[in-house]
Amino acid sequence: MTHDDEDVPIRVDFRDAATARAWIEETRIKRPYRPRFFAAFGEALASRPALRILELGSGPGQLARALLARCDVSAYVALDFSPAMHALAAEHLGALASRVTFVTRDFREPAWPDGLGGFDAVVTLQAAHETRHRRHLVPLLERARTTLAPGGVLLYADHYLTPETRLLVARGRAGLVDVHLRHEEGNMALWCGTNPALSSVR
Ligand SMILES: C[S@@+](CC[C@H](N)C(=O)[O-])C[C@H]1O[C@@H](n2cnc3c(N)ncnc32)[C@H](O)[C@@H]1O
Repeated sequence: MTHDDEDVPIRVDFRDAATARAWIEETRIKRPYRPRFFAAFGEALASRPALRILELGSGPGQLARALLARCDVSAYVALDFSPAMHALAAEHLGALASRVTFVTRDFREPAWPDGLGGFDAVVTLQAAHETRHRRHLVPLLERARTTLAPGGVLLYADHYLTPETRLLVARGRAGLVDVHLRHEEGNMALWCGTNPALSSVR
């Protein structure tokens, strides 16, 4: 039995190549609405020029593919702790993989943003729950915000572990402004928040 303040143990290890490949098919069947989330991310970024994008927990590259096709992307950094997932992403992206920088890093490590540079958008889909406890969520999003240029956006989508997680995301804010819901379907939601311009930071 685990206590509520303990991290939830990793049951599905995406660093295992067979597990990573199996997940792609499982999620296609279990969450047929994922393409509408890809579209909602694209819609949120479509009007922004020359985007520098960081994706956290980028997995098999499906969101990267959708954003590279739809948006004006000048740089795309795909961060994941699984070399197996990066290999699947390179396979899925084909020629588009040459436009992606793959970074193998663990976003539970507080220093994960070090040296990555500045971004106009940080995006994450079905990955932030991998911090393994809801108390780690706002710190993860706060660190993500530190990689954003002023006026840059964080687009965060995940399934809800518990109903309170929805409230936590909505209220926690992680230093972001104009936090709003962009898409909600199944038990998943896409939230958008903006890194405030320096003059409006309190
Ligand atoms: C459920 S998959 C989602 C993949 C992708 N975002 C998508 O929706 O297609 C979760 C991803 O997060 C990655 N991941 C899990 N824990 C991580 C960690 N601590 N640091 C970095 N990546 C992690 C996994 O390797 C996996 O690729």
